[in-house]
Amino acid sequence: MSFAALWGSLLPIGRDGLSGGYRRYAWTPADAACRAWFTQAAAERDLRVLTDRNGNLWAWWDPPGPAGPAGSKAVVTGSHLDSVPDGGAFDGPLGVVSSFAAVDMLRAEGRVPVRPLAIAAFSEEEGARFGVACLGSRLLAGAIDPGAARALPDAEGVTLAEAMAAAGHDPDGIGPDDDLLAAVGAYVELHIEQGRALADLDAAIAIGEQIWPHGRWRLEFTGRPDHAGTAALADRHDPMLPFAAVVLAAREAAAAHGALATVGKVTAEPGAVNAVSARVSGWLDARGPDERVLQAVVDDVLAAARDAAAGHGVGLTAAAESVTPAVRFDPGLRERLASSLAARGIRAPVLPTGAGHDAGVLAARVPTAMLFVRNPTGVSHSPAEHAEPADCQAGVRALAAVLEDLACG
Ligand code: GLV
Ligand code: MN
Ligand code: MN
Repeated sequence: MSFAALWGSLLPIGRDGLSGGYRRYAWTPADAACRAWFTQAAAERDLRVLTDRNGNLWAWWDPPGPAGPAGSKAVVTGSHLDSVPDGGAFDGPLGVVSSFAAVDMLRAEGRVPVRPLAIAAFSEEEGARFGVACLGSRLLAGAIDPGAARALPDAEGVTLAEAMAAAGHDPDGIGPDDDLLAAVGAYVELHIEQGRALADLDAAIAIGEQIWPHGRWRLEFTGRPDHAGTAALADRHDPMLPFAAVVLAAREAAAAHGALATVGKVTAEPGAVNAVSARVSGWLDARGPDERVLQAVVDDVLAAARDAAAGHGVGLTAAAESVTPAVRFDPGLRERLASSLAARGIRAPVLPTGAGHDAGVLAARVPTAMLFVRNPTGVSHSPAEHAEPADCQAGVRALAAVLEDLACG
């Protein structure tokens, strides 16, 4: 099946008709439909499907004949199928669809793996439902306590354990899977570029160099609910005001330190137009070129939050929801990608990124690398995210080249 047909079969799943964006949240019906799509794509290719204990999907292309020599570890590619609220079609799915298409390309060229080759789709990469980014790969790698993960609530108070159980997955089994990881020799994730460096460089493909350290912090301001038409300004304890100060402080701190900081989510309770709020919760997303800079940004924002909360007689709690340290992709694997592409005349600059990926989490346990596919505007986490069909095809060709050299050579 061509890339276009495979891509087209995934496109309708979880798409919101009004915004044109995707709402594919972990362990929901849209997620189940994505899982069914993955299973069917694997079955059409005679790939052996496994759902690991953490709900990540794997499609295995086993080498023919008896098991390979000891130490013949798997080459794994893939990405994720979940989305941010109203996300684009490409962030995650491009890597999964390209992986299946790369397998098709290798087979059409008569290539056969000499070591296991797998396509993975990691669960809850965006953390859109349970707040922790890369939850599936974090659990797999032992980077989060399984008990704490089971208790993570979504916006309605449904826990991860409850949502998994309702979707037919046993939450008691989640946690590190050292045997599975020990069988993986390399993970290569193809992803749409989330920036426009490639457009500026006039190249279709890049090789990932590093991921900025980044994280999410939840700030909860608790005030005194009151009447908007009668409570005197001097008497108010309005949690919206220190929250507003935080939004501005985040922007200032990011600019001052050469970093990025975003407040993209806020809830006000009880949410009445004509009342001072009882509670305002806001989420800070901060990212920096190194950990010292990231910490400086977060320190500045938290200090501003404390000052503003105290000034308005409002309570404040702040907690990190997920923090990912700086990641440098494996230099040896990166070199192998570079020579595979160079040998086929594919120009691929090396780029850093501020976006998080399962490859970044897994880098602590196995050699990982990334390929990026040009995004003409650089816009991502938005329905406007885009890659041209010719660039998607170039991505499949590049991934197939890398998989051929790593798994079939
Ligand atoms: C994932 O896309 C992230 O960087 O938040
Ligand atoms: Mn994303
Ligand atoms: Mn992604």
